[in-house]
Amino acid sequence: MSNVHAVLFMYPFQGHIIPAYNLAKKLAAKGVLATLVCTHGCYARIIKAHNGHDPFAHNVHSIRLALVSDGLPQDFDRSLNHLEFEESLLNKMEFHVEKLMEDLQRKGPPISCIITDTFYVWPDRIAKKFGIPHVSFWTEPAMVFSIYYHWDLIIKNGHYPFTGDEGELINYIPGAPALKLTDLPSYLQERDVTTLTHKSIFQAFQSARAADWIVSNTVEELDKQTIEKLQIQSGIPFCSVGPLLQPKGEVGTSMWAESDCRSWLDSKPKNSVLYVSFGSHAHVSKAQIHEMAMGLLHSKWPFIWVLRPDVVASDVQDLLPDGFEEKSKDQGLVVEWVSQVDVLSHSSVGGFLTHCGWNSILESLWLGVPMLAFPLLTDQYTNCRLIVQQWGVAMSLGHISRSSNNLRSTLVLRQEIALTITEFMNMDGQEGKRLRCNIGSVRDVMKKAVMNGGSSQNNLEGFIDYLKGIELSHFSSE
Ligand code: UDX
Repeated sequence: MSNVHAVLFMYPFQGHIIPAYNLAKKLAAKGVLATLVCTHGCYARIIKAHNGHDPFAHNVHSIRLALVSDGLPQDFDRSLNHLEFEESLLNKMEFHVEKLMEDLQRKGPPISCIITDTFYVWPDRIAKKFGIPHVSFWTEPAMVFSIYYHWDLIIKNGHYPFTGDEGELINYIPGAPALKLTDLPSYLQERDVTTLTHKSIFQAFQSARAADWIVSNTVEELDKQTIEKLQIQSGIPFCSVGPLLQPKGEVGTSMWAESDCRSWLDSKPKNSVLYVSFGSHAHVSKAQIHEMAMGLLHSKWPFIWVLRPDVVASDVQDLLPDGFEEKSKDQGLVVEWVSQVDVLSHSSVGGFLTHCGWNSILESLWLGVPMLAFPLLTDQYTNCRLIVQQWGVAMSLGHISRSSNNLRSTLVLRQEIALTITEFMNMDGQEGKRLRCNIGSVRDVMKKAVMNGGSSQNNLEGFIDYLKGIELSHFSSE
């Protein structure tokens, strides 16, 4: 065990907790003492989803768990009151982080550095106050980081706020291909840019510019040009250590109780099931849920559909069309949450209709499952561009058009959904063959990256050497 003590602050959303926890495990396995910080609100939800058991307690590595307030009461409905939640993360949490840091310093061992999710707005100030380095942890593709990093260029070129001219090309993000405005993260596709979200992301990237290192859940070979340019421009090492995945069969950190679909999946033929999920965070209109339900039904393909209880809003119930349950009972399963890696690993799953969250994409690629892309929010539009056009591992579902903030403005209708699913799930068709061939190549790149001598493995070693170097410089200055 080295003397390195890293305090890792997880952002309080499922898609950020999973890779952060898996990063902490990797660091701990290499002898770093990792204190993993979870908010009280998230921790309570995770424990509840596990019937009172603490999944973090199952880890065999030397990870310590610490809790911090996000500034809101534990049982506050953060999904329903998203604005208050955002406001608290922006303005109130820093006070509690500072108190926790003082407490951890007092108890020891001394803190070598903080590793903080890039979306927090306070890391530079906290690092400065405690006189330690700050590592920014990025959970999305490097291209998305680079787009936010070059926000000023997008403003200068008149493409932000969103002009609505979908023909315009953004061909000035260093290292990135020419992008359409609709390929940008959703927040850069909005006309009202005065929201709390815009303020938060803007401040978060100001803070990230002061980071000593950026560690990212991506794979260098998949985003090489962007990473090279970004490093030159920012002068900050951008270190890709992905994919940071939840291991199959291991107890995870789910915030919703998982349904066990194994026996249902076992009863289905190989590659016949479409797995459908909109991730952990995005909301979808009830009308779109109805179109999706009828599209799935008309496609006639077996499906497992994850419908989070708050997918429309946590105070909206009866999400499905009347009679859907009865009509679909021999065709599909609707569940609130599953262990996604376990479902995607099952041989009867042949495709993934995904909202294009970065974790979902990495998991699908790793497990060789072709994707049907249905982006809803944030980075998912840029991720969609990567998987459909750049890597050819996904088909696109529905024309994307936006006019209001934070929601698809046009419905993708049931006929289009049913037809696209039919084409997508036909493994013997031209399109199915092309997707599976491409996914095989990307998967090979990912598998090599995490093997000994692979890029992610080497980058992780390099990062650990950097952490050990901090420790040495601490000792020599004492
Ligand atoms: C958002 C962003 O879009 C994403 O790019 C970012 O990295 C995190 O926040 P989110 O909606 O959380 O995305 O999706 P995703 O990144 O795919 O993460 C969801 C995670 O939850 C995945 O690891 C997935 O395996 C897991 N999951 C999802 C389950 O375990 N069970 C489910 O039923 C659904």
